[in-house]
Amino acid sequence: MTTPVAPQQWSSRFAFLMAAVGSAVGLGNVWRFPYLAGENGGGAFILIYAVTTLAIALPILIAEILLGRMGRHSPINAMRALVAENRAARLWMLIGWGGTLGAFIVLSYYSVIGGWALKYVELAITGAFAGETDAAAAEHFSAFVSTPGSVFVWQALFLIITVGIVAAGVTSGIERAVVLLMPLLFVLLAGMAVYATTTDGFGEAMRFMFAFDLSRVKPDTILAAIGQGFFSVSVALGAMMTYGAYLGRDVSIGRSAVFIAVADTTVAILAGIAIFPLVFTYGLEPSSGPGLTFITLPIAFGTIGSGIVIGSVFFFLLSVAAVTSAISLLEPVVAWVEEGIHLPRPALAVIVGLVAGIAGIGTVFSFSAWADFHPMAVFGVMEEMTVFDVLDFTTSNIIMPTVGLLMSLFVGWVLSGPVVEEALGAKGKAWFPLWRFCLRFLAPLGVVSIFVANVLM
Ligand code: PFF
Repeated sequence: MTTPVAPQQWSSRFAFLMAAVGSAVGLGNVWRFPYLAGENGGGAFILIYAVTTLAIALPILIAEILLGRMGRHSPINAMRALVAENRAARLWMLIGWGGTLGAFIVLSYYSVIGGWALKYVELAITGAFAGETDAAAAEHFSAFVSTPGSVFVWQALFLIITVGIVAAGVTSGIERAVVLLMPLLFVLLAGMAVYATTTDGFGEAMRFMFAFDLSRVKPDTILAAIGQGFFSVSVALGAMMTYGAYLGRDVSIGRSAVFIAVADTTVAILAGIAIFPLVFTYGLEPSSGPGLTFITLPIAFGTIGSGIVIGSVFFFLLSVAAVTSAISLLEPVVAWVEEGIHLPRPALAVIVGLVAGIAGIGTVFSFSAWADFHPMAVFGVMEEMTVFDVLDFTTSNIIMPTVGLLMSLFVGWVLSGPVVEEALGAKGKAWFPLWRFCLRFLAPLGVVSIFVANVLM
């Protein structure tokens, strides 16, 4: 057996929670959740999101952290150990392999978008948004993303920061960064949300986000909510499993997972409260989807009196959110190579970061030279998709649901109930049977339905 990664351990429950919330809070919260909520029925979406996250993503999150703490290795070797111990079929090893591969692929494109966020910090600080109009903002954004050289530089900077933190180790790197950055992020976001309440568009924004509008709930809203819940809470890519491997036996996984999911959802809602009032105050388009962050908001920042400050704070916190998530995508891969290759961690972190950067080339070019290149067209599937679309679709709709499904089935059906109850420290607790029911039945059902709807239909 390989040397377990577990000799490294979080120095406190707080450190673990900040790392896990850091993983969960990312581009998914600040960039994606607000526009999904706006487009899919406001309050109705938020309610559906809360219910599906509670019934599906949260039970799997508990299972994933538990798998890490029981396996005490990187996801691949933790699953190898658990499969051997339980004489289970080798198929379950897919949890480790699929998760790690998925984490690597997501890292490759996440770092490109993270690089955009960093670039926008620079633009905000230098006052580049001043007097931005609709057309000019769209033009500036597309001019930037279609210049590969410049995108590379920012992606590289993003990866250098991420690699630097992971290279320093679990306690001296990841932990030190997240205990500082996560509270800071929260305070800045809360400050922005408070500022937003003073703007003219506040009332209209609140109606847009929270009004319970069932007519905007579309048939696929529930699936969008489940998928968003998965990505946002960071399940199924081995990130939480790796963080669980560093977790002491005395920490309650159930309570921690609830904290993580609640903090994640709070940040997503706060992000909406911070963003939409600006959008409405300046009469901009709230349903501009993915362009909301990089095209619509700069127009608002260019118009507000204190736009330089507010805009810089916003893109800084977006970058922080992205970095602390990227760390958790890099760590499972680095932990795995560290178990097999006896080189110092910094060297391994640099190598993995470099490979991820190279793998990100396809994403960088998806917005420029390869915008019309559809790699899967020859196979007759995903025909319209660019390289970036294919990577995003494959990880979100195929790898994550598959790994999430396998995790819920493995912990729900393969591991024995009493062993799991003991390992969770949940003996005699009322929530245990409820959680196990969600894990054995609801979660698999929910995940299979996303899969069928998004992939097969
Ligand atoms: N949860 C992150 C976000 O909302 O942006 C993305 C993510 C990070 C997903 C790590 C999965 C993961 F393992």
